[in-house]
Amino acid sequence: MSKYQFPASDIYLPGTDIPINRMGITDSELLHQVEELLLQQAYQVFISECEPDTRFDETYFKSLQQRTFATLYEWAGEYRSVDMSKGGSLFCRAEFLESESHRLFQQLEQEGFLKQTADGSKEAFAERLAHYQCELIALHPFYELNGRITRLFFDLIAIVNGYDPIDYSPTLKATADKTNAYIQASIACVRAADNSMLRQIILDGLNKAEAP
Ligand SMILES: Nc1ncnc2c1ncn2[C@@H]1O[C@H](COP(=O)(O)OP(=O)(O)O)[C@@H](O)[C@H]1O
Ligand SMILES: [Mg+2]
Repeated sequence: MSKYQFPASDIYLPGTDIPINRMGITDSELLHQVEELLLQQAYQVFISECEPDTRFDETYFKSLQQRTFATLYEWAGEYRSVDMSKGGSLFCRAEFLESESHRLFQQLEQEGFLKQTADGSKEAFAERLAHYQCELIALHPFYELNGRITRLFFDLIAIVNGYDPIDYSPTLKATADKTNAYIQASIACVRAADNSMLRQIILDGLNKAEAP
């Protein structure tokens, strides 16, 4: 993986929140459509590749972004090297990102990537999914697409354990103040290390897959 560091000014078109991309797209709506298409294709590919012994480690997590978005973004699969915040929430400082991420994924590995937990109650599985997702939300390791890659990652863990992808749809709809329940839950994660709202969202959206 390259060691090139991207300054923030290399990520967005000047004065916009549109990421500079390999297709030269400058229209926000079109870019979202391309991203959506790539993400849908990625779901198909990664679901088909999933095995009971898939290792959901840090390399795998990074590869989700790399393989999904490398055609579009030069920084796909690379952790950010600048501090970032959203709506007043400061995510993990860039200087601690590598070590914090390492620690988190090691913990997940020690928990057997949640395989045993998933064999227990849905509530217990949702609680551990929320724990790890909350921590990844606070890390915000990538320049962009953190929300979508993080949800993809936990959807794949759910699927390999006999669940459907987690249904976040009721919580992702924008409300009048341009936020939504998922963002509110994320704010609690980042600012208060409180995963209770996210736990409820995941519990509500988690369903056993129908037997084939
Ligand atoms: N105000 C906020 N406070 C804390 N976390 C936030 C806030 N706004 C967004 N987030 C988190 O950041 C994620 C969006 O990050 P981003 O890299 O833009 O990913 P994506 O483009 O896939 O939505 C959200 O899913 C949420 O978890
Ligand atoms: Mg975004």
